[in-house]
This record gives sequence, C-alpha cells and structure tokens, in this order.
Amino acid sequence: MAASDALLEVSDIHTYYGDSYVLHGLSLSLTPGKIVVILGRNGMGKTTLVRSIAGLTPPRRGEIKFEGRPLTSTAAYGIAQRGIALVPQGRRIFKSLTVRENLMLPTSTLAKSKKRASHTGKQWNLKEVLDEFPQLADRIGNLGSALSGGEQQMLAIGRALMANPSTILMDEPSEGLAPKLVQQVQEILLRLRSEGHAILLVEQNLGLALAVADEINVISSGRFVFHGSSDELSKNTEVLDNHLGVAKGH
Ligand SMILES: Nc1ncnc2c1ncn2[C@@H]1O[C@H](COP(=O)(O)OP(=O)(O)OP(=O)(O)O)[C@@H](O)[C@H]1O
Ligand SMILES: [Mg+2]
Repeated sequence: MAASDALLEVSDIHTYYGDSYVLHGLSLSLTPGKIVVILGRNGMGKTTLVRSIAGLTPPRRGEIKFEGRPLTSTAAYGIAQRGIALVPQGRRIFKSLTVRENLMLPTSTLAKSKKRASHTGKQWNLKEVLDEFPQLADRIGNLGSALSGGEQQMLAIGRALMANPSTILMDEPSEGLAPKLVQQVQEILLRLRSEGHAILLVEQNLGLALAVADEINVISSGRFVFHGSSDELSKNTEVLDNHLGVAKGH
C-alpha cells in the first residue's frame, strides 16, 4: 500500500502511564475500506494503542498523522472532530440517558464534523442508525441502564457513527456478546468497510478477527510480534500458540 493512500499513519509510538512503559514502538496505517485488526491477550497494550490514537493517552514519542497532518499534539476532542470515532471497550454508554439522547450526543458536541468532507459515501443520521440497529429503534425511549449488553454495544457503535467518522477505532466490540450478536457485529464491520470507512478493530475473538481482517497485527507486551493476512496467521502455529493461546488444530 502506498503511504499516500493511508488516512491514518502511526509511526513508532511509545506510550507510558506515568513510569510504566507500555507501548514499545508501534507502527501501522489505516486506509479507507480496510479493516486492520489488533489481536493479543489481556494486558498486552491493545486499549493503550487505541487510547494513544484517540488522544486519551498521547504517546510520549513517535508520530501519528491523520490526512497527512500530525495528530500527536491534538487533544482528544479535536481528534474526534477531525473524524476519528472511538467505540470504547466496555461500551461506556450513558446509562442515565435514553437511547435517543445517547445517539444525539455526538451531533450536538461534534457539530463541526458534519461540515467535514466525508471519505465515505454514507452520511449517518438518526434514521440511518436506527435502520442499521432495529433493536435500538424498539428501545429509543429507554434508559441506557435498561439495555442488554448487546443492545449497549450496538448503541456504542451507533453513537460513534452519528459523528460521521471516516475512521473508526473499535475496542473489543464482541466482548461478552452471544454468538448471534457477534455475527451482527461482524456484519456491521463488513458494511462499514464496504462504505469506505477505515477501521481499527481490537479483538480477542479470533474467529471474528480472521473473518473480517484485511491485515492483522498481533501485540505482545507492547510490541507487534506478527503482521500479515488472516491466512498467514491461521498457518502460524508459533504465533497462535505463544501469543494468542490457541491450541494447535483450532
Ligand atoms: N490507567 C493505567 N495506568 C497504569 N497502567 C495501566 C493503565 N491502563 C492500563 N495499564 C497497564 O498497561 C498495560 C496494557 O493495558 P491495556 O489496557 O492496553 O491492555 P489490553 O491489551 O487492552 O488488555 P485487555 O484485553 O484486558 O483489555 C497493562 O499492563 C495494564 O495493566
Ligand atoms: Mg483492552
């Protein structure tokens, strides 16, 4: 892939929490219409990578460029305004707000992003999101606290889409979901890819990752230990055994 095709370029980032050195020089790039997956066990730095890009835990060294311009010194809010949406691990919806209020939050706070030239063919609005997630339409007036885990995940994804992002960072969207809902997450990921979004997907569900990934990076203790396609990872028993805890034959 030519560097000029990349929407987001992460180059050799090093991220810390205080004295704790967590990301040891990670690089990747995201392109419209492609899904890049980060796989890795608990505590390896997946969320820290997502937080580094979203500006929540900025890297201490290295560079992140978005649309060719540095993002590294931009605050989280500015990064969201430029078109990068985060679907955080554990949903993080507002439980005391209704489904509608949760969905409308980005449109009030990120009004500027509506004027941004979209990289994708689609402009999301409340109707489009409710068409995509019929289970939310049925519960539009319910409080977030009344939703099931699966409904909360769909709300978190729907809320991210309401900002019309070009780039979507999803942190373990399938965590704790029943297989049928994992399937729904897979379908939405493929649809978002076909609409031209650039997607970074953090996962521990190997089946989902292999099914949707254009590229996979496996992370271990803050370093990438594998980069390749789903086919290449499926055949790499060393990485599967040592870094993903998948027994041979799976
Ligand atoms: N706020 C924090 N302060 C200090 N250390 C942290 C903080 N958040 C995470 N860490 C540490 O950084 C390392 C990477 O954590 P991170 O949350 O990025 O892992 P992860 O791969 O997302 O794990 P999981 O799969 O459990 O979500 C871990 O050792 C973790 O304990
Ligand atoms: Mg995490």
